[in-house]
Order: sequence, then structure tokens, then C-alpha cells
Amino acid sequence: MSSSLFRAAAVGIACGLWMSAGAASAAENGRVSPQGSPDGPARGMYLLRITGCNDCHTPGYAESGGSTPGSAWLTGNPVGFSGPWGTTYAANLRLALARMSEAQWLQRARQPMRPPMPWFALRDMSDDDLRAILAAVRQLGPAGQAAPAFVPPDQHAQGLVIHFVPQPAAAR
Ligand code: HEC
Repeated sequence: MSSSLFRAAAVGIACGLWMSAGAASAAENGRVSPQGSPDGPARGMYLLRITGCNDCHTPGYAESGGSTPGSAWLTGNPVGFSGPWGTTYAANLRLALARMSEAQWLQRARQPMRPPMPWFALRDMSDDDLRAILAAVRQLGPAGQAAPAFVPPDQHAQGLVIHFVPQPAAAR
């Protein structure tokens, strides 16, 4: 079992206990509805859930079936994505967005980023949707450590990476 899957399993178990204790807030672990103001945190939380930001920006989120506790959401991922672009790391959005003004966020969200970040999805969001995401991430508050820095293609990354290199299915 990979360490990341093991971590996901541990988080899943811890989360199950936490929920059964009744401590989970609906915004963090229940299903969220797109209510509230169009640029408010409730809608932002909904957008974060349905647009898949946690899949990469939250360690173990996808492996846990989306049940990672809100305390770990968007805290960045130490597992890199390696490909022809070099090695990228899903940023700690809790720290990055805490440092940005609304104007800086709207500008940053519309700039190209390296793969596999779906930056074009952010680019195509309305200003209200982006403001809602900012409000939701600010409500979660700053937490965690910065993700590792980008490693250019001619340098070797340290630690764990996922290789994006297409190869014949039979190759081992
Ligand atoms: C498939 C994985 C993946 C998904 C899904 C994803 N991201 Fe990313 N994200 C990344 C990676 C990798 C980077 C680093 C890109 C780089 O180094 O240029 C990144 C970078 C970013 C940055 C730049 C942070 C900074 O410090 O400037 C922002 C903002 C961001 N992502 C927001 C989002 C949001 C919001 C969503 C959901 C709509 C999302 N991401 C979904 C992988 C992902």
C-alpha cells in the first residue's frame, strides 16, 4: 500500500469517528447546497466541492472518497506531478489566498499555470464565482505548510512524484 493511500485510509477512519461524534459541520463534511449570496462563502464551498479543487490540493482527498476533514482542505500536496513541464505541486491555497487581495486573486486566477492545474477552468469562472471561492478559502483560514517549489524539467525532484508519461499499457 502506498504511503499516500495509507494516509488516506487513516484520515478516512479518523473522519468517520469525528462525524459519528457529531462534530462535523455541514459545510465541511455534509453535502453542500449552492445557497447564500452569489459571491459568498457558502456558494464558494459548493463550487470548491463540485469543481474538484480538493482532488489535487488536498492530500488523500480523492482516495478517501472526498471525506477528508475540512481542516486539511486545500493545504497543498507534497506529491509532485512530473511531466515534460517539470514537476509541479498543487499549492497550499489556504496560505496563498490569505496573502492576496480580491483584485490580486481575480488577476491570478486568470493567468496560465502549469499542468495538470486546470487553470482554464478558473479563467472561465465568473467574477462572482471567483469571489465566492476566495470567501470560502478565507473562511477555512490559513493552515499547513507551503507545497514544494516547482522543479524545472532539467532538474530532479525529491520525494514522491506521479509521472505523467504515456506508455503502452503492457509495458512494466
Ligand atoms: C489535477 C490537479 C489540480 C486540480 C484539480 C486543481 N489544481 Fe490548482 N494547481 C495544481 C498544480 C499542480 C498547481 C501548480 C501549478 C504551477 O506550478 O504552475 C496548481 C496551482 C494553483 C494555483 C496557483 C497558486 C499560487 O500560489 O499562485 C491556484 C490559485 C489554484 N491552483 C487553484 C485551484 C482551484 C481553485 C481549483 C479548483 C477549481 C484547482 N486549483 C484545481 C493542480 C490542480
